[in-house]
Amino acid sequence: MEKIQQVKAEALANIEQCTTVEALQQVRITVLGKKGPIQSLMMLMKDLAPEEKPSFGAEVNECKQTVAKAIEEKMAELEAGALAARLKAEKIDITLPGISLRLGTMHPLTLVSQEIEDLFIGMGYTVAEGPEVELDFYNFERANIPADHPARDMQDTFYINAKELLRTHTTAIQMRVLEKADGVLPIKVICPGKTYRRDDDDATHSHQFMQAEGLVVDRNITLTDLKGTLQLMAERMFGKGRQIRFRPSYFQFTEPSVEVDVSCHLCGGKGCPVCKGTGWIEVLGAGMVHPNVLKMAGFDPTQCSGFAFGVGLERVAMLKYGIDDIRNFYVNDVRFLKMFDRFD
Ligand code: PHE
Repeated sequence: MEKIQQVKAEALANIEQCTTVEALQQVRITVLGKKGPIQSLMMLMKDLAPEEKPSFGAEVNECKQTVAKAIEEKMAELEAGALAARLKAEKIDITLPGISLRLGTMHPLTLVSQEIEDLFIGMGYTVAEGPEVELDFYNFERANIPADHPARDMQDTFYINAKELLRTHTTAIQMRVLEKADGVLPIKVICPGKTYRRDDDDATHSHQFMQAEGLVVDRNITLTDLKGTLQLMAERMFGKGRQIRFRPSYFQFTEPSVEVDVSCHLCGGKGCPVCKGTGWIEVLGAGMVHPNVLKMAGFDPTQCSGFAFGVGLERVAMLKYGIDDIRNFYVNDVRFLKMFDRFD
């Protein structure tokens, strides 16, 4: 009986000393296990006199249960402590500011291009594209600019070889669209894209730039259709109330040809440094598609007519956003690009 009390006291003391769940588990294995002290007490039973057996057995059982219960309680206590410690260590402060992701922004030329595309898609145009490495044939020949024509000087470009070059204007797309239509009317396309010329880069010139070209061919298309269309475009790009005016000009692929001015969006036409005191800003070239161009593409110019216009997207973006150096569009300075973040 004394031995039982001793085993019990020792076990309870060991349990009490445990400070971790692992240590307590170890104690449980040694005390309650098959080779443990309680099991050894059970073994003593067979050597006892029959009348001693019940009371001894009851005492060992009581010892076993007390020890098991103590382990259980201690275990619950240690586990609760361990959980509390973990919660404390792994606590997340949900009030801390998050890590903001750096999102890219729309390039100003993309913004302007999309704005123009949206406007014309809304009027039933489709968007057409073409290769930047273009055949001389579509860039010049089909645009009524034959090989020896002096007008080629105005659009000197980068040649890949004698027949291929970097296109100088989106008019090349127009020529492909005309050819592909194969005489079928009507044609209503808007053609945005990159263009190139052999220019020395400065604040207003860039060897790479962007244009968007519009082309409509159908029966009875007149200069008034062109004017109405460009009036809409001017208001969409530069604000309600803008006016446009046509000035005579010259392009090989249009006849008559016009230079189009928009009333200044900054001073409203009174005159300011941006419009150089004139109240007008030149923004694009346009005209009625030259009969030769229609003929070369397989259309009968006595049965149909068309208008075309080409607008420089850098110029529009510079005017709209007050940008004073065209090179800003191409040097990828994030501080510049960030200014056009529509999500800010
Ligand atoms: N292709 C001309 C240019 O680059 C612009 C233009 C397009 C003019 C269509 C008239 C008609 O300057």
